[in-house]
Amino acid sequence: MTMKERTLLLIKPDAVQRGLIGDVITRFEHKGFKIVGMKMLHMGKELSKEHYAHLVSKPFYPDLEKFMTSQPIVAVVIEGKDAVEVTRLIVGPTNASKAPGGTVRGDFSNSTSRNVIHASDSKETAVKEIGRFFRPNELFEYELNDAFLYASDE
Ligand code: PPS
Repeated sequence: MTMKERTLLLIKPDAVQRGLIGDVITRFEHKGFKIVGMKMLHMGKELSKEHYAHLVSKPFYPDLEKFMTSQPIVAVVIEGKDAVEVTRLIVGPTNASKAPGGTVRGDFSNSTSRNVIHASDSKETAVKEIGRFFRPNELFEYELNDAFLYASDE
């Protein structure tokens, strides 16, 4: 069990355009994960080619790049027990048409390419992907503290 495991999520342009940022992030917060980094950015073509290096030769890559660079995305780093594996279960399979209800893709998409969210597929990939989108000082170490529920004089 690794409590401090971290993984990267990218909330894709379709989700931003459809007003789903909050709904998507809520799934991970309710599961018990902690958000330790978050930013909106425009993915440039160079970053797309780096992030999807393993897919650049695929016939669908031009569409993938056009889509991912078309509108802002939101990059999120979450932390918690078995973050990589559990996140992939919450996200669901790439082809959202076949994603079970209850998963993010199953509930919000019916497409393989406009499928709401990207999530790192292994612990090794997660480390690389987090470093691709976040500087060390953009990631936060903090404890969730009950003291923030009430003022001290209540
Ligand atoms: S593969 O071929 O098995 O490696 O592809 P897969 O892992 O299923 O998908 C990798 C990412 O490519 C996106 N994708 C597509 N984009 C555009 N058009 C088509 N046809 C298409 N098929 C797959 C898919 O959404 C995956 O994105 P990420 O960000 O990795 O979830």
